[in-house]
Parts: sequence; C-alpha cells; structure tokens
Amino acid sequence: MKKLILYLIALLFSYSGYCQKLTSPDNQLVLTFSLLPNGTPTYQLDYKGQPIIRNSKMGFALLHVDRPLAEGFRITDTQFTSSDTTWEPVWGEEKEIRDNHREMLVCLQQEKTDWQVNIRFRLFNDGLGFRYEFPVQPNLRHFRIQNELTEFSLTGDHKTFWIPADYDTNEFPITTSSLSGIAALIDEVRKEPLAAKSPAPNLAVQTPLMMKSANGIYVNIHEAALINYPAMHLNVNDQTFQLSAHLTPDKTGNGAFMQTGSATPWRTIMVSDDARDILASNLIVNLNEPCKIKDTSWIKPTKYMGVWWEYFTGGGSTWSYTDYSDIIIGQTDYTKLKPHGRHGANTQHVKEYIDFAAKHGFDAVLVEGWNEGWEDNHAYIKERIYSFTKPYPDFDAKELQQYAAAKGVKIIMHHETTSSVVNYEHQMHDAFRFMVDHGYDAVKTGYVGGIIPRSEHHDSQWMVNHYNYVTETAADYKIMVNSHEAVRPTGIHRTWPNWIAQESARGTEFESFKGIAPDHTTILPFTRLVGGPMDYTPGIFQGDLSVYGSNPAKGSSTLVKQLALYVTMYSPLQMAADLIENYDRFPDAFQFIKDVAVDWDNTWILEAEPGDYITIARKSKGKNEWFVGGITDENPRESIIDFSFLPKGKKYIATIYADGKDADWRTNPQSYLISSKTISQKTKLKQRLAPSGGVAIRIREIE
Ligand code: NOJ
Ligand code: CA
Repeated sequence: MKKLILYLIALLFSYSGYCQKLTSPDNQLVLTFSLLPNGTPTYQLDYKGQPIIRNSKMGFALLHVDRPLAEGFRITDTQFTSSDTTWEPVWGEEKEIRDNHREMLVCLQQEKTDWQVNIRFRLFNDGLGFRYEFPVQPNLRHFRIQNELTEFSLTGDHKTFWIPADYDTNEFPITTSSLSGIAALIDEVRKEPLAAKSPAPNLAVQTPLMMKSANGIYVNIHEAALINYPAMHLNVNDQTFQLSAHLTPDKTGNGAFMQTGSATPWRTIMVSDDARDILASNLIVNLNEPCKIKDTSWIKPTKYMGVWWEYFTGGGSTWSYTDYSDIIIGQTDYTKLKPHGRHGANTQHVKEYIDFAAKHGFDAVLVEGWNEGWEDNHAYIKERIYSFTKPYPDFDAKELQQYAAAKGVKIIMHHETTSSVVNYEHQMHDAFRFMVDHGYDAVKTGYVGGIIPRSEHHDSQWMVNHYNYVTETAADYKIMVNSHEAVRPTGIHRTWPNWIAQESARGTEFESFKGIAPDHTTILPFTRLVGGPMDYTPGIFQGDLSVYGSNPAKGSSTLVKQLALYVTMYSPLQMAADLIENYDRFPDAFQFIKDVAVDWDNTWILEAEPGDYITIARKSKGKNEWFVGGITDENPRESIIDFSFLPKGKKYIATIYADGKDADWRTNPQSYLISSKTISQKTKLKQRLAPSGGVAIRIREIE
C-alpha cells in the first residue's frame, strides 16, 4: 500500500512537475516531454488534437555499463526559443528555404552517475526533430553506445512503404503492407537477388519510413545530419505498433563510439494530412548545419550522359580491358596484354559521347571502366584493387581532356572502390590530384561488395565517417561527389553541397537485372529522396533489352514516364542514361531531356499519393520557364493539372509530351504524342496517363 501511494505521488509529480509542452508555429503539432516515475525520458507528439506518436521512451544502452543511460534522470533546466529565418541553398527545389520552428532544450542529469544528457526538440509546422546532446562534463568523457533506445510508438497498424533493415544495402524493391503484414513478407523480400547482404537479425525496416494511418495521416520517420554515428534502422513490434531505434553495429557489436561535446543525428517525424506536404518539406535540410564551403561557385547542377548503360544492356561492352584475371596493379604492364576488344571506355568511343553531349547541350559525360583493375572487380586480392591514377592503355586522359575542353564538356570521373575503403583512402589525395590535373570536377564513387579489410558495414559509424571524409576532402579539391552504395542521405548536402547526389536505393540499373515495379518511382520521393537527391539515372527509351541479344529484361514504364522522372525525381545531377542510338531514334522526345532544367527557383507539388501517383511543377532557376512531370503506377489515371502556379495575366505555350492512346508499359511503351497548347494561370488540363505512364510538359511565356 505504502509503495502504491509513493508510486502515485511520484506519478503525479512527474506528470505535473516534469511535463513540458512545445507547440509548432501554427499550433497544430504539440510535443509533450515528460519523465516517468523512474526518471525515464519520454515524448509524445499530437497533431490537430490526436496522438501521432504515443508516449515513447528515450535513451541509450551503453556498453560495459550496467545502468542504461535511460532512467534515473532529473531535469536540471528547460529552455525555450523560437526562430523564423530564410536561407538560400547552393542548388535545390526552391531558391529560398524558410526555417520556422520552436525549440525546447531539456537538460537532464542521471542521479546516480551525475552524467548529463540534453535533448533538443525542434517543432516545425510539418514535423518534429529531436536529438541527444552530450555536453562536456566532469564525470563522462568517452563512452560506447550499444544501442539507442528511442521509441516511436505509433497509434495503429499503418499502411507502410518499407524496405527490410540491412546493414549493407538499400537497393531493395519497396513493399507496401500494413505494419502487421511486414513479418509475413520480409524473408521473401530479403531473398531478392543482388539485395540482402547483412540483414538485421530482428523484424526491422529502414528509414526514411513512409506510413499512412487509417484516418489519412501521413507520417514519415527518418534522421537528419548523420555525422560520426551509425545509421538508424527501426525495429517493428507488429503487436503494439511500436518502432524502436536499431543502430547499425560495428563488427564487434558496438553501436557508436562517443565522446562528450557531441550530439546524435536528429530523429525526424514528419506529419501531415496531405501527402503533398511530405514532398514539400524542408525539415531535414533545416536540421542540418549551414554550408561550410566558402566559395561555392564551382558547384554546378549537371546534366550528363555516360559510357555506362552499354555495360548493362547485354550488348557486349565491358568495364575491363582484358580477359586476364591475375593482374597485379602497379606491376602488370597492360600494354603487353592482349585486349579482349570489348572495352567501353576507349578514347574513340568516349569522343563519340563527348560529340553527342556537346551537340545536344549536355554538361558532362561519365566514363566508367577507364582505369586499371576491372579484371578482378571483386578485389579478392589486395594487390588487384583498382588504381585511380592509371588509365587503361586505350584511354588517353590527356587527349580526352583537351578534346572535352574544346567542346565545352566535362568528363565525370569514376572511382569504383569495391569497398576497399582503406586502400581508397590511401589513394584518395593522388586520385583527386589526378582529377584536378586532368580537368575533372566531379566523381562518381562506388561501394559495391563488403567493406575491405575491416568488414565494417556500409551503414556503420566507421563508414559514415568515411563518406563524410571523402566529401570534405573532395571539397578541398573543388570536386563534386555522387556516391553509389553509400549510406542513405540525411540532408548533409546543405552543409556540403558538393555532395551533389547519391544512389542509395534501387535505381535504373535494376531495369537491366530484376526489374523495377511500376509503383517504385511513385514511392521513392516519399522515402529515399526525403534525405536528399538521388542519381536515379532516368531516360531509358529502349526498355526492352532483348533487342541487344542476351538480356531478356523489359522496362517498367512508358517512354513518357521516363521523361516525367526528370521533374518528379528531384536531383541537381540528372543523367540521360540511354544509348546515343536510342536518342537518335526519338529526337522529338529527346528534346524534353535536352530542355529540362536541373536547378529550380520554385516547386509546386500538384498531386501526390505514395504508391499511386505524383505530379510536380517547377520553375527553372533564373528563367521564365516551367516544367511539369506527372507519373502513375501500374494503373492508368487522369491527372488534373492546375496551372494556377503560373504568374497571372500572361499567356504561355505548353509543349505536352503525353502517352499515346494505346501506350502501356507492358505492350506499347514507346507510344507517345507531342502537342502544343496555349495556357494561362486559369487553365486546368485533364491528362490521361497510361498504365505505368506519365506526362511531361515544358512551359514558356508567349512574348
Ligand atoms: C554499381 C553502380 O550503381 C553502377 O552505377 C556502376 O556502374 C557499377 N556499380 C560499377 O561501378
Ligand atoms: Ca548500385
């Protein structure tokens, strides 16, 4: 009885005395922080008067410390601030971004240890961000986090767009099911060839995680500013609908090595009853630090082509120069080896791409397979790992430098590390110096395979530090980075805008392997792209690869949907991925790819429903020119495009690239119709999209 009374007093005390509220600027979101009677920190998030996240625990399990950093806390201070500012990104979907939030800093001290942890909450109109901060303090300096105990207690069995948790890859198809439906499907999805590498041992999924409640509330959970910390996956309790953090461990089971004077990444929860708000949100970038590069004039949004797709079509050309596999980099003289004759990155062929790119106004050409080492691209043997300074004998770097410069085209460097990360770091300065000396200003990095030699996971703290180190070092050389197979982005491109794009999801290359589901690109903007731009590499006009001989793959969309992706899949780095011959076959459709901008003043999300459709309008940076892209999943649909985003009182000419009447991604993907129409701000256009089809529109002012 005495115990019960004490408990009730403690409960009352904790909820009256230790309960703090913060509201968003528009008062629609309410964050409640409280301490449980045992001193465990908790938070709750309400939206328009209903709970979105039920009371959820916060804290850490530490390694070699019995007492978790998750209980026995008291509040030593609480501070409230607010801020409403705007800032200009170096590139982006908007030329100005508003950061309007209210903040609460709760300072906690654990009674038995005296250890201090602060929790900083920022509430925006479109969601919540919070992070843990570890101030410099007398009794704690270095510590190891075994796992973070942050919970996200959802209110029901939401519809969820998920990929399985995996410490090494995110190149999965995206599955749509209820939270309770994940368990029955996850093993099958993990078997997906080329995908699962190091699955989390429990029922867990990756972020950004997009969900929709039964009453139509959209909730998106991710993280911002992943720096010196492992990436977070989410355990799923499919009985209670409680999600909980699961940090990518290192090889010995540690989550994170910490030092006081630091903070965790922000945990982010976006909320809205309108799916368009999720796509329009700037919450993740707002939670990242401002740009750290002083002179950003060399960072340029880029449209490029590449000696690339031919390696995937089954048409015969390869990255490698010879058939020999016993090559030792630095010792084998390639000029003495007989080439197999199918090497893609030869000087003559690269020149064809440079000519074509120059003729059609592209900024750059990516060249893969230019460097020694592709004969053993599993890098099983250390001495065979690629050189990033030695071109193959038939790739004349100096001659191509002059040729490209004369044509006003850049060549994009390629560093496939096959995850030999230590070796890459050893070569990195020489490699970047080689780039500067040969006129390159952008590199595509790659992390195929397991991390060598430490077998650390791609999403671990150690690797997170590597990707950030590469980006920061590249900035010293004025080099832009497009990383493939790296940890998924968390808005760091605000701080380091030379990190111009990433892959980190299933991209177009899968059109040539296992295929891409028609709804994939209607989901990615709600999941992967929430963290930052994706090098999705659209523009495949010839999706049926059987025409090249050996690859039976069929495309996943109509040709017009490929055009629309340049608008719906935001990236300042966009590729026209198909072969020259296919653009020559469809010059009128190719015109859209030539015209479309890669940097924007404004963006309007016109229609959106994850898994079903997306329609977006954008205004080109510094130009009176607009583009609209609309896509649908496997179902045809009628899009109603409302042009009220255009300035009033003027007439415009819209060039409309539409699916042909008989277009269908399975039977007739290349059927399209191009027409022109005079429109104004008042126009509402009804446009039919074919199954897995799209619409792409270019709009210019009539003088
Ligand atoms: C996988 C990348 O995603 C792809 O774009 C690249 O061509 C290969 N690795 C080889 O580096
Ligand atoms: Ca890849």
